[in-house]
Amino acid sequence: MATAEGFVRAYRERTPRSQQLWEAARRVLPGGVSGNAKFFKPHPIYVESASGSRVVDVDGNVYIDLLAGAGSAILGHGPPAVTRAVAAQLGQAISPIFATELEIRLARTVGIHMRYMEMVRFVSSGSEATFLLARVARAFTGRERIAKFEGNYHGQHDFGLTGAFVAGAGSDHRPEPIAGCAGTERSSLERLLLLPYNDPAALDIIREHADELAAVFIEPVAGFGIGAIPADRDWLAALRELTAEKGILLVFDEIVTGFRLGLGGASAAFGVQPDLGAIGKIVGGGFPIGGFGGRRDIMEKVVTPTKEPSDVKEKIFASGTFSGNPIGMAAGLAMIAELERGDFYDTLARRGERLRAGLREAGLREGIEVQATGIGSIFHVHFASEPIRDKRSAMRADPVRQYAFSIGMISKGVLLPPAHPGFLSTAHGDADVDEILRVAADVLAEMAAR
Ligand SMILES: Cc1ncc(COP(=O)(O)O)c(C=O)c1O
Repeated sequence: MATAEGFVRAYRERTPRSQQLWEAARRVLPGGVSGNAKFFKPHPIYVESASGSRVVDVDGNVYIDLLAGAGSAILGHGPPAVTRAVAAQLGQAISPIFATELEIRLARTVGIHMRYMEMVRFVSSGSEATFLLARVARAFTGRERIAKFEGNYHGQHDFGLTGAFVAGAGSDHRPEPIAGCAGTERSSLERLLLLPYNDPAALDIIREHADELAAVFIEPVAGFGIGAIPADRDWLAALRELTAEKGILLVFDEIVTGFRLGLGGASAAFGVQPDLGAIGKIVGGGFPIGGFGGRRDIMEKVVTPTKEPSDVKEKIFASGTFSGNPIGMAAGLAMIAELERGDFYDTLARRGERLRAGLREAGLREGIEVQATGIGSIFHVHFASEPIRDKRSAMRADPVRQYAFSIGMISKGVLLPPAHPGFLSTAHGDADVDEILRVAADVLAEMAAR
């Protein structure tokens, strides 16, 4: 049976300065961090610098970084083309509250690649984008209720979080929402319709509630909430067909998949077109960004700026001091221009496949049941005997082994925090994949020996 004790001891020994900083941080930052995702037990590493595929912590440890900015750093850390563009923009205009040509260029660029993004409104985070998309959907359809899938994370607001990490109420085929954290508005749970991911039963539930539904939100690849699980293509196509038939808007949350599965994101990769979508992460070139957009008839109708009282019935408010900030726009343009130049995606997918296959083999060798899931450059390691397809199967995986594996990897120089999907960037070469697999084999062997 795997215990994490030895790995935790090794981790502590390597990270005394991080531990000190964490203890100091806890006096001024609740939990010692600025966001839940940064924390892991026994304490997070505090990072000194990051470059390419490597991160250096305050104790001088060098890690192969598999977080890649929660997926945003697809070119690795500090890609020269992006840092040059940002440096130039810093000298030109930083203030976010002016309209700039950069916004037009980035919206056009997004639309060229993600064909359904006929119009885009930029904001500062993915959470804002999905929150505002729900408002768009309600305004456009005149219906109140939003449906989403169990295990899908759409941000830290009530409906974005509900059912994403904390789940299990109701049955496998009829999940029920429970609050994802304290402070969740009770009425938000009543308004939300929670659906089972990758499950034909979801279509029946949508049919039953069709008249109430403004939108169905989905992560075409369930990332942080389940662990790198792609939707079945035919099921996704059936979802498209049904929502179109019932006048329900289909919303793809492409905050992870946009410009990661390919320049066209998940819609192009799966050949399924939603009505609306959310973007973030890579689109900001590593700077805070979110965006929402899609069909022109929807965006034009409800997202036009207005202060007219009569318009309030039809149009939504969507603003934000840092929305469309020039640094994020310039960084995003530079990053996408770089992605347009190379044949990065095939190489990323090949390396991702090799990594997943290698992790499965390493598990087999040690007699540990490993499900290495994912698509392209996104992956996750689940400790389970059954295939992981949805939130319920992911919840049946072994969290003790999961934690032992992650802290073991980190203690040996591969940064893959527990419960995070891993992301490869173009800065990860074949030698990095070899090294990750070598470390994983070591960790699994130690786990098997305990
Ligand atoms: C699929 C998905 N949607 C929304 C979000 C929220 O984005 P942000 O953290 O920028 O608010 C995330 C963040 O990881 C995400 O993975």
